[in-house]
Amino acid sequence: MYAQMVKSTGKGLKSRKEMTPEEGRFQDRIDAGEKIEPKDWMPDGYRQTLIRQIGQHAHSEIVGQLPEGNWITRAPTLSRKLILLAKVQDEAGHGLYLYCAAETLGVSRDELTEALHTGRMKYSSIFNYPTLTWADIGAIGWLVDGAAIMNQVPLQRTSYGPYARAMVRICKEESFHQRQGYDIMMKMANGTEAQRAMAQDALNRFWYPSLMMFGPSDKDSVHSAQSMAWKIKINTNDELRQKFVDQTVPQAEYLGLTIPDNDLKYNKKTGHYEFSDPDWTEFFEVLKGNGPCNRERLGARVKAWDDGAWVRDGLMAHAVKHSAKIAAE
Ligand code: 3HC
Repeated sequence: MYAQMVKSTGKGLKSRKEMTPEEGRFQDRIDAGEKIEPKDWMPDGYRQTLIRQIGQHAHSEIVGQLPEGNWITRAPTLSRKLILLAKVQDEAGHGLYLYCAAETLGVSRDELTEALHTGRMKYSSIFNYPTLTWADIGAIGWLVDGAAIMNQVPLQRTSYGPYARAMVRICKEESFHQRQGYDIMMKMANGTEAQRAMAQDALNRFWYPSLMMFGPSDKDSVHSAQSMAWKIKINTNDELRQKFVDQTVPQAEYLGLTIPDNDLKYNKKTGHYEFSDPDWTEFFEVLKGNGPCNRERLGARVKAWDDGAWVRDGLMAHAVKHSAKIAAE
């Protein structure tokens, strides 16, 4: 039932002539920039693509708490600890809004959770990398939340109403996250030699995984063509990756840090930076479950779900007793 199994390719896009009258009317609404709402008619592929993307996005927010949660008890000051706690809590909130948006498409939160735990649904590749030092928390805020915002700001205009509306608040909060990360990087980059080295090392390790967050190159992207025709995606993976590099290189220069790419150069003619691709073999390995932390991350989620069973059971038992009491009155 999940769109992980629905492979819409650019080549598979239906022409106007091939569409049923209902599909044609739906496409007209999309082309006119109308929002699609939960009770509106929609093609099954549109529904399944949204469940896949929103579900994967929700899972990313939830799994994304783990690498940072790892540093809450080790934050260097009380103020940094409070900020990190609030950030991690925001990510939980983002996951919840997104699960709610997915539920409007007829899938339950339990089904989505089960699909994550059994490996049928993905979460962002970036969260399969370890956080080894405090500077990694800075790099995550700066680069990972920075990449997330680059991808998510256009999603505020996505064609599905509940997803677009959820993205408005998420993007506002992600901007704070990005700034707190950059603030940590500024402190480290302007600190002692050792702190500066930690900041550079964090940038070295998180640069390419951050570029991978935008997905495979356009030529290998399975869903982009159909998702863009439906305005589920507004930009291609490569367009957003380029925007991210263009925005981030001057920020690294301001920090006095070096992007770990010997081929990085500014092209005056195009007004864009030229840069090296990430290692796509590594990317696809991480997607297959073979990244440095895949097993640990999924294991932590499954354990949290199992450990919370007594709370869910308790609530259910209370609900049953409560309804029986009301029925008896
Ligand atoms: N990590 C894991 N899987 C990825 C991926 C990544 N970085 N990039 C692509 N994939 C997967 C796709 O899900 C798809 O797999 P599937 O067919 O089994 O579902 C496959 O690789 C092919 O990629 P496509 O380009 O065809 O897939 P999409 O059209 O869905 O594009 C995307 C991928 C750009 C990530 C898109 O799904 C998207 O914009 N998603 C919404 C944003 C999102 O999920 N962000 C998560 C980032 S983390 C975050 O927000 C937390 C914050 O706190 C930092």
